[in-house]
Amino acid sequence: MTTFAVRILPWAVARPGARAVREAVFVREQGVPIELEWDELDASCEHALATDAGGAVIGTGRLLPDGRIGRMAVLAEWRGLGVGAAILAALVARALERDMRRVTLHAQTHAAGFYAKLGFTTIGETFMEAGIPHVAMARELAPAARS
Ligand SMILES: CC(C)(COP(=O)(O)OP(=O)(O)OC[C@H]1O[C@@H](n2cnc3c(N)ncnc32)[C@H](O)[C@@H]1OP(=O)(O)O)[C@@H](O)C(=O)NCCC(=O)NCCS
Repeated sequence: MTTFAVRILPWAVARPGARAVREAVFVREQGVPIELEWDELDASCEHALATDAGGAVIGTGRLLPDGRIGRMAVLAEWRGLGVGAAILAALVARALERDMRRVTLHAQTHAAGFYAKLGFTTIGETFMEAGIPHVAMARELAPAARS
């Protein structure tokens, strides 16, 4: 059986685990330059960390104060098991708790179907970011649309 848990944490606590996953996925696997991976926004974000039954960090994502979600990453060997969906659901739930009305993100185009399954819709055209094609997506959290 596949067991994992997701928690929302401040950067001071999430940092080592989030860094390890993001370096494995974005820097080593996808070839994003390390200087583009780290920005000044992490400290102001809340971070979701997924851990396996032994406490090892297997996935992460972040929520900015303005409702942007980003840096969604699951270790390759853990993909397709619901970890990414659980991380995204935890970040959306946190946005709702904070009375945010809308969450937005820049999806790598290959992952747009993942976000669409979780209620996000595409806005506008494809653009390049960190050398990877992206598309903007959003999910409304206004009371009538909450579920
Ligand atoms: C995108 C990513 C976070 C998804 O995480 P995951 O744990 O594999 O996703 P889940 O297993 O929770 O999938 C949830 C649903 O989305 C679907 N899905 C997952 N990845 C998908 C994709 N790339 N395209 C379309 N659907 C996808 C799954 O089939 C599943 O559907 P189901 O509920 O009908 O079974 C993960 O593939 C990843 O880390 N990729 C590399 C980093 C990356 O590209 N991050 C996105 C940056 S925008």
